[in-house]
Amino acid sequence: MILVFGSINVDVTVPVPHLPHPGETVLGGDYRLLPGGKGANQALAARRAGAEVVMVGAVGGDGFAAVALDPLRRAGIDTTLVRSLTRPTGCATIMVGAEGENMIAVASGANMAVTAGLVPDALLGPRTILVAQLEVPPAETMAVVERAHNAGSFVLLNIAPAQPLRPERLAKIDLVVANQHEAAAIGPQPAEIAARACCSLVVTAGAVGATAYLADGEIVRVPALPIEPVDTTGAGDTFVGVLAAALDHGAPLSAALRRASAAAGLACLAHGAQSAMPDAAAIDAAAVRLPGAALPSPGAA
Ligand code: RIB
Repeated sequence: MILVFGSINVDVTVPVPHLPHPGETVLGGDYRLLPGGKGANQALAARRAGAEVVMVGAVGGDGFAAVALDPLRRAGIDTTLVRSLTRPTGCATIMVGAEGENMIAVASGANMAVTAGLVPDALLGPRTILVAQLEVPPAETMAVVERAHNAGSFVLLNIAPAQPLRPERLAKIDLVVANQHEAAAIGPQPAEIAARACCSLVVTAGAVGATAYLADGEIVRVPALPIEPVDTTGAGDTFVGVLAAALDHGAPLSAALRRASAAAGLACLAHGAQSAMPDAAAIDAAAVRLPGAALPSPGAA
């Protein structure tokens, strides 16, 4: 089972011909009001990939709450631990440029009232993979990370948005996922960080693919799917959710990384963070199209 402790947002997305400079106004296309939030996106990606998922977080008592939560519920994610609070539902304003690149500002709202106490001890144990990010208060995230680690859960932390993390904190985490900019927040030498903290560090690099630095010094490189991106919003979240789902199904890390990379590529083919997240069959089909040797899908004999 995958337990996602994290943010839930509504995304107000505007396509623009180019991302504006400070002080510049850019005229864009029609806006879209879409479900988002790194936590919710990762939960949905894992669920579409076939995992059982429990979401822990918070929304407001406003109209945006249903926009954010309905897709999770329809997909079969357990949202009984999502609190409804008096603060507004989290809302991200997102500009998407002509080549799918984006700029994001988040009004965190109810996400900033999420606490570690929302997670019951009974959900933490060796059969749980904890997936967390840093869009809810980092101290609360770290409190859940510590409890999950002590209970024998596998802990996957996506350090987004970027935050420096002390080495003793990294030691409680099995797998850290960061994009290139976020990885720089924890240090310049990913291989050294992984060895010192005894955790694995996956650095994603968009069209170039991803590199995993393992605690024992091994380095695993995974290519990206060759695509023409429409909107890269949520690609990193898809990578994280699908990686967690594959590990939950018992896949070795190298195979799980290939599935995650293929899924992240597919997620860039439509507007919005969640619209193009693939299901397990689509990931199977895309994973064999990745450059390099094909690996069996999790659960295959
Ligand atoms: O990672 C993409 C997400 O970041 C968006 O859905 C937005 O809500 C922000 O949280």
